[in-house]
Amino acid sequence: MKRISLVFSITIIIVLFSTSLLISSCGGNEEKKDNSPVIETQPKEQAESHGTEVKPGDVTLTTPLNAEWVNAGKGIYELKCQSCHKLTDERLVGPGWKGVTQKREPHWIMNMITNVDMMLETDPEAQKLLEQCLVRMPNQNISKDESRQIIEFMRSNDGVK
Ligand code: HEC
Repeated sequence: MKRISLVFSITIIIVLFSTSLLISSCGGNEEKKDNSPVIETQPKEQAESHGTEVKPGDVTLTTPLNAEWVNAGKGIYELKCQSCHKLTDERLVGPGWKGVTQKREPHWIMNMITNVDMMLETDPEAQKLLEQCLVRMPNQNISKDESRQIIEFMRSNDGVK
């Protein structure tokens, strides 16, 4: 009996002690908030890990297609995308690409290719696709230039000359 009540009272002491630590550390933070530089660096680090976002005006589409880009885009597709995306409108792991350049803005597609984590966190259309496909598209380490070449290949797949 004695031992049990000893253990019990030690537990209580520990709980009380850690609760008071919690309370005092929260209070302490509030007092220091004004001159604490640590808090300010957090958003910056996050933005960097997402890479830079492509804005609506950043991409210009021209005709006729740039044949070199179409070829380069095709090469990347066969290497890194084909396992999940068909060129028809049929879904494999991800949606088929037929018609994607009519359905989506080019900057949206580029963000989906180079910045997929950001898109799945913030973009409602991307989130809808995730609900349908149930698989998160992985980050494929594609550069901005490569994603532009892939768009050229997608446009060619959609019948643009
Ligand atoms: C492991 C499978 C997988 C690979 C590999 C993959 N994707 Fe995806 N992709 C997906 C899934 C799944 C989605 C739907 C969104 C989601 O669930 O994350 C998607 C969505 C997309 C979309 C949006 C399609 C639409 O209808 O709006 C584009 C564009 C896209 N991927 C491009 C690419 C490109 C380019 C590559 C290759 C560099 C690639 N994907 C590689 C699985 C993949």
